[in-house]
Amino acid sequence: MDNMVNIFLFGKKYEVPSNLTIMRAMEYAGYELVRGCGCRNGFCGACATIYRIAGDRELRACLACQTKVEDNMYIATLPFFPLVKQVYDMEKISASEQVMMQLYPEIYACIGCNACTKACTQGLNVMQYIAYAQRGDFASCAEESFDCVMCGVCSTRCPAGISHPQVAMLARRINGKYLAPKCAHLEDRVQEIKDGTFTELIEALMQKPVEEMKELYNTREIEK
Ligand code: FES
Repeated sequence: MDNMVNIFLFGKKYEVPSNLTIMRAMEYAGYELVRGCGCRNGFCGACATIYRIAGDRELRACLACQTKVEDNMYIATLPFFPLVKQVYDMEKISASEQVMMQLYPEIYACIGCNACTKACTQGLNVMQYIAYAQRGDFASCAEESFDCVMCGVCSTRCPAGISHPQVAMLARRINGKYLAPKCAHLEDRVQEIKDGTFTELIEALMQKPVEEMKELYNTREIEK
């Protein structure tokens, strides 16, 4: 059939419709996904995948839920990659350069190869946000890494052993806690929720059928 392609999942050949994502193609081939599958919409980073097209030397990385199959695609999924994840207490750390030196000293061993940026499934400038982290410019690191879904593919390629997503997470936490201006209306809203202002409304919403809830969600007013 014209609309079928051959793919290889963990080395085994399958014929699948060409309009499927890798994730859907795996299910079409009979895999039941209990790991490496989360939101199915490109947000959670659970479906990091590497592949090669036969005849092409380049090893590519992608999110399986966002990438269409291609003919002669050799696919292996990376449902988990062991990043270095330090434990820290946000109440006890400060927004100083020393924080990165203490928690993630490997960032200073970056050799500038840019493999992390090339591998990023979100097209982020990973090497640049690590450079910001090295300098203690946490606001820029937070901004540059904002769309990171923590799939970990960047770290699989790093010769210096950097856990880029965790470094960026720390920078975003520091930025959120110490550097970005306080969001007064959010604090007010949290207080209103604590005071029970919306309890009745929330309970009424919880009684609604799922379809109606979805409709309300999709047509909600979005704050500028
Ligand atoms: S399943 Fe969440 S990003 Fe693919």
